[in-house]
Order: sequence, then structure tokens, then C-alpha cells
Amino acid sequence: MKQVDLLYSGKAKSVYRTDDPGVYIMKFRDDITAFDGEKKDTLGGKGRYNAEVSSFFFRYLEEHGIRTHYLESIDAASMAVRALEMIPLEIIVRNIAAGSLVRKYPFREGEPLDPPVIIIDYKSDLHHDPMLNDDLIFALRLATPEELDQIKATALAVNEILREYLDARGVTLVDFKLEFGRERGDIVLGDEISMDSMRLWDKETGASLDKDVYRFGKGDVMEAYATVAKRILSRPGGETA
Ligand code: TYD
Repeated sequence: MKQVDLLYSGKAKSVYRTDDPGVYIMKFRDDITAFDGEKKDTLGGKGRYNAEVSSFFFRYLEEHGIRTHYLESIDAASMAVRALEMIPLEIIVRNIAAGSLVRKYPFREGEPLDPPVIIIDYKSDLHHDPMLNDDLIFALRLATPEELDQIKATALAVNEILREYLDARGVTLVDFKLEFGRERGDIVLGDEISMDSMRLWDKETGASLDKDVYRFGKGDVMEAYATVAKRILSRPGGETA
């Protein structure tokens, strides 16, 4: 399999076509952005941490019966993935109130949400990613009712798997975002699962271990990413796997 041309370049990842039409290469770049692209930087090594964590979680989820686009890791910052027809929805699962939920609704930061809350945003820079509801998703023909049911059920299943895994490593999964696509009519988990797409707190201290460190200048971003990547890739208790 050979990398051919650039298909798409987002804020922190680039996707390349290969000589196999069913396979793309996804490269995690060192770029980091926040606040709809208003804050931007390049942090050496960041792409590798996010690629390592994402590929680990995709493999782990596959072992637990979740279909993902992951095929294999190509190098430290790139992976081969199945070519999906992406659905422009951001599926956000929240276990604890934080971020925009606290800004927009009368929740206290840190308040547990039980059962977890799913929020779905329309992935559209032009419209600034507005929140959708089921009727809008159907009216915009973004997904069928059957697809949406499957997307929500899969997002909740992923939440349970990740939450338990992270909790055993002293990390609280506050919230995270998933994106799905279609492959020959089947719903498949795509995109990434990384420190850019999850909100993670240290279970003991409550310290942020994710992109919030960058968003709000809470300390050394790369140190936070390195610490959490090491914990995620370790066995419970701290020993490296
Ligand atoms: P949210 O609290 O809605 O937004 P903000 O990060 O602005 O406070 O984010 C919830 C989670 O979803 C958080 O872990 C980051 C992730 N997320 C993304 O990865 N991309 C996005 O475009 C959005 C809206 C959220």
C-alpha cells in the first residue's frame, strides 16, 4: 500500500489516499488549535502521543466488539484506516458536567451526569457546529433513525469501555467526542480518540490531562499529554504494558 495524494487536511490531522481505494492514511500532526481555530500552535511530539493513544483505543475497542476504521499503525504518527463515508456529526458523550455544558446550562462544573448525556453537534465550520436534535438530523438527511439509534448505542458502549479502562489508571473520563462513518451501509467508528477529543481529569487531584491544559493555559501541554499517554498505555497500577 502506497500513500498517494492528500484528501483532506483538518486542524490537527491530514488524510491521504493510497493506491488501495478502500484504505486511507491518517496522519496526526503536531498542530493544536482551540476556540474554533482562534488559538493555534505547533507542539513537537503531540501528533505521536495522539496517534499512539488513538490506535491503542481503536484496537482495544475492536477487541470489545466495536467496529472501527483502524487497520494498522504505519509509523509513530500515522495509521492506515478503512475509507469511510463520514457522517458530519460530532457525538459528544458526557459523564460529568464541564466545558460548554456548564457555560450554557445551569450545571455545576464537576457535577456527575447519570445516566450519561449525549449531545450531537453538526460538523460545519460555516455554521459554527450548532447543536442538533433527532428531528433536525432527519430533516437534514444526515442519518436515518436506524443509523442514529446505532450511533447512540455504540457511543454509550464506547463510553462504558473507555471509562472503566481509564478509571483503573487513575483517570476520570469527563466527556469525549466521536465521529462515525458508513462502509457499505454499516456504521463504523472513525476519526480519533485522543487527548484532543477527550476531557480527562486526574482522579486524585482533578488536574486536567487533555487539551484544556492548552485551551486555558493551565501548564505544560506536552507534559500533560506525555503523562496521560504513558498512563493509558500502562497496566493498572502504573507498570508499562
Ligand atoms: P465541549 O464541552 O462541548 O466543548 P468545549 O471543549 O468547547 O468546552 O466538549 C466536549 C468534549 O468533546 C471535549 O472532550 C472535547 C470534545 N470535542 C471535540 O473534540 N471537538 C469538538 O468540536 C467539540 C465541540 C468537542
